[in-house]
Amino acid sequence: MARGPWIEGTTGVVGIFGDPVDHSLSPRMHNAGFAELGIDFVYVPFRVSRRHLKDALRSLRTLGVVGVNITVPFKEDAIKYLDSVTPAARAIGAVNTVRPEGKKLVGDNTDASGFSAALSARGFRARRKRVLVIGAGGAARAVVYGLLGSGTIDIVVANRTLAKAVRLVRSFQRKGVDLRASGLDLLDDFDFLDSRQLVVNCTPVGLKGECFLDYDVDSTPADCLHFDLAYGEKPTPFLRMAAAAKRPTVDGRHMLLHQGAQAFKLFTGRKAPLEAMARALGIKLAD
Ligand code: ATR
Repeated sequence: MARGPWIEGTTGVVGIFGDPVDHSLSPRMHNAGFAELGIDFVYVPFRVSRRHLKDALRSLRTLGVVGVNITVPFKEDAIKYLDSVTPAARAIGAVNTVRPEGKKLVGDNTDASGFSAALSARGFRARRKRVLVIGAGGAARAVVYGLLGSGTIDIVVANRTLAKAVRLVRSFQRKGVDLRASGLDLLDDFDFLDSRQLVVNCTPVGLKGECFLDYDVDSTPADCLHFDLAYGEKPTPFLRMAAAAKRPTVDGRHMLLHQGAQAFKLFTGRKAPLEAMARALGIKLAD
C-alpha cells in the first residue's frame, strides 16, 4: 500500500544540492516513487551556497544521508570534493549523484544514461544515427557521451563559442565516429540539416521567454526527432518551433525522469516505479 508523506525515526534521507533548488521537480518525482513502493525515504531540497559546497558534501557521511543529486551550478565543482567518481562521471567531467559508501564519497553521473533511456523509451534507436547537438556545456557533454555509448556514428556539436565545441569534440574523439565542432551558422544550412535524424538542444535559450536561435527547422527531415533538455511550464521555444513544423518532440522532463530513475535505483536498490514518477512530473511515458 502507498505510504503517506510522514517521517519516522527510521526514515532514510535523500535530497538534492543546488542553487537555486526551489524550481526543482526532483523532490516531487522521487517522493512519488518512494510512496508508490512504500519505501521509508524522504527526498529533501537543500539550497547550498558555493562556499559551503565542500562542507555540505562532507556532512552527508556525518549525518547518515543516503545520497543526494547534484544540480546547477555544482555538477562540475562537486568532483573535487569526492573520493572517487565513476568512469562516466570522469569522462563527462560532472556528477549528478553523490553517495557515501563506507568512508568514501562516490560520485556518479546518470544524465548520459538517462538521456539514452529517454531516447529508447521514445522508440528512437541512436545506433548509427546522425545527430546535431546544440550547445557545448556540461549537459551537452553528457548527451554526447550517452550518444557515443549508444553507437551513434555522426555527431556535430554546434556552439556559440566555437572553441568550447572544439574542446568537447577533442575530449570524446574516437575511431569510427564522425564527431565535429561547429559554430551556430550550421543551424540554417539546408544540406547539413537535411542529413540529421535527431537534434538535441542543450542550451537554456528560450527559458526566459526569448526566441530560440536562428534555426531552420524546415530543412530537417519530417521525422527528425527534436529533444530539448530544458523544460518549463509551457513547451520551450525550440520545441514550439519543431511542433509547428510537425517534427516529433521530446521535452526535458523525460530526461529528468530517466536520470532520476537511475538515481532512484542507486539510492534505494529498487527499480524505479516509472509510471508513478512520470505522473508526478505531469508526463506520460509514451509522450
Ligand atoms: P549546462 O551545464 O546546463 O550545459 P553550461 O555549461 O553553462 O550549462 O552551458 C550552456 C550552453 O548554452 C553553452 O554551450 C552556451 O554557449 P557558450 O559556450 O557560447 O557560452 C550555451 N548558451 C547559453 N546562452 C546562450 C545564448 N544566448 N545563445 C547561444 N548559446 C547559449
